[in-house]
Amino acid sequence: MGKKDKEIRDITDLPGIGPNSAQKLIENGYTSIEAIAVATPHELSQVTGIPLPTAQKIIQAAREALEIRFKTAKELKMERMNVRKITTGSKALDELLGGGIETRTITEFFGEFGSGKTQVCHQLSVNVQLPEDQGGLEAKAVYIDTEGTFRWERIEQMAKGVGLDPDTVMENIYWIRAINSHHQMAIVDQLFDMLKRENIKLVVVDSVTSHFRAEFPGRENLAMRQQLLNRHLHQLGRLAEIYNVAVVITNQVMARPNVFYGDPTTAVGGHVMYHAPGVRIQLKKSRGNKRIARVVDAPHLPEGEAVFAVTEWGIRDAE
Ligand code: GTP
Ligand code: MG
Repeated sequence: MGKKDKEIRDITDLPGIGPNSAQKLIENGYTSIEAIAVATPHELSQVTGIPLPTAQKIIQAAREALEIRFKTAKELKMERMNVRKITTGSKALDELLGGGIETRTITEFFGEFGSGKTQVCHQLSVNVQLPEDQGGLEAKAVYIDTEGTFRWERIEQMAKGVGLDPDTVMENIYWIRAINSHHQMAIVDQLFDMLKRENIKLVVVDSVTSHFRAEFPGRENLAMRQQLLNRHLHQLGRLAEIYNVAVVITNQVMARPNVFYGDPTTAVGGHVMYHAPGVRIQLKKSRGNKRIARVVDAPHLPEGEAVFAVTEWGIRDAE
């Protein structure tokens, strides 16, 4: 992050925010400049009681502090050159993804239960720790678990599978259980600080949608759910961009095509209706331990499918 003449380090440094408004913002979960930069003027105004134009100015100041601004094509090229990749454990899947999971990007794995989303997240948390010549980034992982399906036993097994010391690998994964959607977003706010201090190159949110769906069920809550989910995805996108980390999210969708009538979050094609930049991969069960991955709406990646396997030692190429 760039430094300005007058450094803006937390929300109280923003022009137009007095102690009272600051207090209200913090109580409502807007604890960081990032959180304010991605808020809407309407939200801020509702929370603090400040007039809309002031809210607009505050958001603008937060964006400037974060240097959300025009970039030159050359800068984009340089940023692109900083993108790094993490191997999935399967050559076929890596190839489908153009070499692996990318930093600076949100990668979504969606699919029905048992399709391997959580297994892929576990594997990536291990693989990010590998040396670069083996497809890793020699870095740590954060695992935000919303469903309680994280298993250290599985990490231990996968670490052995790639020849890393299991205890070291487990020390390098920071796990947290998100208890509701509000908590889930507050955790990501905290990550903006944590990633300054720690060599973390992967942030997993497994699953990104479950709390939002449970707390805002049905069509009548769809607008609210989408608004919050969008804010969450913006947060994650900023995190990926600012710290050059890979963000991996999962999203359970039903396999039966008629189900989307019952659940308005799933669109035709089976994904959540939002537009976050990134890569979307659909996972499908196949015979035995085989799984099929397909890249969805990614113009920069070739169309096609990859078959991989979930083995005792983790994600591998199918035999
Ligand atoms: P939901 O979270 O329910 O939507 O499913 P998911 O897509 O996250 O599925 P998950 O990644 O949990 O995949 C579960 C499948 O992985 C199981 O059905 C097994 O086939 C496989 N699996 C999970 N743990 C192990 C293990 O320890 N050994 C082996 N060999 N396979 C495992
Ligand atoms: Mg799962």
